Amino acid sequence: MSERYANIVGWGKYTPEQVLTNADLERLVETSDEWIFKRTGIRERRIVSPTENTSDMAIAAARDALAIADVRARDLGLIIVATSSPDYLTPPVSSQVQHALGARDVGAFTLVAGCAGFVYALTTAQQYIANGVCDNVLVIGVELLSRFVDYTDRSTCVLFGDGAGAVVLQVSNEPAGVLSSVLGSDGSGAEHLILPGGGTANPPTHETIDQGLHTLKMNGNQVFRFASRIIGKALRQVIQQAGLTSDDIDLFIPHQANLRIIESAAKYVGFPEEKIFINIDRYGNTSAASIPIALVEAFEQGRAKVGDTLAFVAFGAGLSWAAAVVKVAERVKPIPFLHSRRKTPAWISAFNPLNTVVVKPLGTVLGLLQAGIQRLTSWFRRNQS
Ligand SMILES: CC(C)(COP(=O)(O)OP(=O)(O)OC[C@H]1O[C@@H](n2cnc3c(N)ncnc32)[C@H](O)[C@@H]1OP(=O)(O)O)[C@@H](O)C(=O)NCCC(=O)NCCS
Repeated sequence: MSERYANIVGWGKYTPEQVLTNADLERLVETSDEWIFKRTGIRERRIVSPTENTSDMAIAAARDALAIADVRARDLGLIIVATSSPDYLTPPVSSQVQHALGARDVGAFTLVAGCAGFVYALTTAQQYIANGVCDNVLVIGVELLSRFVDYTDRSTCVLFGDGAGAVVLQVSNEPAGVLSSVLGSDGSGAEHLILPGGGTANPPTHETIDQGLHTLKMNGNQVFRFASRIIGKALRQVIQQAGLTSDDIDLFIPHQANLRIIESAAKYVGFPEEKIFINIDRYGNTSAASIPIALVEAFEQGRAKVGDTLAFVAFGAGLSWAAAVVKVAERVKPIPFLHSRRKTPAWISAFNPLNTVVVKPLGTVLGLLQAGIQRLTSWFRRNQS
């Protein structure tokens, strides 16, 4: 049996229309555009409207990713939603997304790994594909932290924004897609980035609300130190694991939390400025959504292309971190006709001559036809941009 790789074949993002600028924040707390930009690299961030929820952003990003991938929701094998800010504690937001997409009976789960959630989810999806369990997996990183931010606390409210990004991973025989990954966690730093209320430790009461435990608390200095220490190392490790060197990486797409942290990680592994993708100035820290949003923009701007090798690194609450090396390949392998989700009825399989003479050849012809159409679509896409 040939190797199964998980290639990124579709991508989409959703960023709310409302922009919250540093000047707007100057009117809310004692801060300045100069301080925020100098310390973080952020100029503005997006905030959802009161009528939008996490699921709405996730669904919008997912629809675009499925359209680009040319994969129907019902042909997905799995949906993973990475978020720390779901619509509800239960049911999982992943089921809301699965239902809204029309992905009937498709397995779905929500994965919580702070800002590293998207890279954790990507790695998980890759495992399902490599092991032969699924052919197509939808991975979404989405965050709506503005509902958990205290807009009187200048040390946190200047950092976070809302948004969603999604990718479709598809099985491929080409050695591409997620080539290596590194996951890490250090729970000893849990209190440095925490939403203390609302869980089992501090269930919501009038007291927890009065104490402001329902909003995000952060020890910025500690998180900064942890990130500066860990992500350069994780990056170097994941590149080595892929059997590559930093020269082989075409584009570095880091979690957009702080420009100074990004630059120090890039310096640690020796990435020149032109290899770093940065959009923190326009979105702030969108947590689990930050890498997929940046990835989509990199594709849209032609900074990431077919054939490129990308490096992702993220860190956040937990404390946790994750890194991955991803090669973007042409989509060449046809989705096998009569895929396991659409099994041949038992009565056809039982009647072997019909299976051999009609079903299998028909499957091969349709598979080839599908591969031809996919190649043509990719050719058009390439020649359009
Ligand atoms: C939050 C962060 C930008 C603060 O920058 P910093 O250089 O570490 O600043 P400090 O926290 O040491 O604060 C320096 C001073 O600025 C003040 N300050 C904090 N926030 C401010 C703001 N928004 N505007 C103006 N002054 C501010 C502090 O009160 C402090 O004042 P003091 O010296 O009088 O006590 C930085 O620590 C950071 O980005 N940490 C990582 C956070 C992160 O990435 N979190 C998400 C992880 S996914």
